[in-house]
Amino acid sequence: MKILHTVAELRAWREQQGHISFVPTMGNLHEGHLALVELAQQHAPVVIVSIFVNPLQFGAGEDYTRYPRTLADDVAKLSTLGVQAVFAPDVTELYPQPQRYHITPPDLANQLCGAYRPGHFVGVTTVVMKLFQLVQPHIAVFGQKDYQQLTLIRGMVADFAVPVKIIAGATIRAADGLALSSRNTFLSPDERQRAPLLYQQLSRIQQALQQGQRDYAQLENAATDTLQQHGWQVDYIRICDPQLNPADAQTQQWVALGAARLGATRLIDNLSI
Ligand code: PAJ
Repeated sequence: MKILHTVAELRAWREQQGHISFVPTMGNLHEGHLALVELAQQHAPVVIVSIFVNPLQFGAGEDYTRYPRTLADDVAKLSTLGVQAVFAPDVTELYPQPQRYHITPPDLANQLCGAYRPGHFVGVTTVVMKLFQLVQPHIAVFGQKDYQQLTLIRGMVADFAVPVKIIAGATIRAADGLALSSRNTFLSPDERQRAPLLYQQLSRIQQALQQGQRDYAQLENAATDTLQQHGWQVDYIRICDPQLNPADAQTQQWVALGAARLGATRLIDNLSI
């Protein structure tokens, strides 16, 4: 497995490859990331994974500096899976000067998580566009765990006619339902035990919709109340259509999404229905 740290090394490696698939990550890899790698391996003979904690997508006061960085462990996991290359640049390699040009995503970037993390999706789409230019993959794999991110990247690729096929991987969960996330490592043992409540509330919404309930506001409020009663600070619980418009009477397929904080840790999750 090649470990590429510079743009020059990446470009030289890329020249020698044919059909490749790409899994962008911020590292601290868990089974969710590794499932995306396995999906990527099904779609192309050569897989490259990037590991880069992107400062552009973290707001002031967010967890950029304390975000877990575990490169040696990550490299060992990817090597075991038989990945061909890892691109792990320094910040100065990807941003030799402050980024002057940015992707302007549509209003969806200001809704849901975007309402609580201003500029986050500008940072995400900009770095993903830059990584696509560098890696030039045929296929890129993203997780449904970050449903809004996936939706915005699909839109960007369509609008800019980027020649990359986007594949989505299902959310991988712990046995108690908690979606795997690098941020779960911030949870205290007590918080970790309580953390599945977000998934449980989304599951309740799923059941209610399947049973024909359509009072979306009531379902959202009930889930919010329950989480708050258990000490969570809820950013939002929202029932949308698959394109992330608010669900209405015509909606036949739904996504229930939630973001809430347990102590200092912000968790997100969603379920497609
Ligand atoms: P990161 O949070 O490291 O996630 C990398 C990829 O793994 C994303 O596509 C994410 O949706 C997926 N993922 C995370 N947890 C998952 C789980 N439990 N099951 C399945 N997939 C999961 O998302 C980012 O990094 C960054 O925003 C990035 C796209 C790399 C741009 O910086």
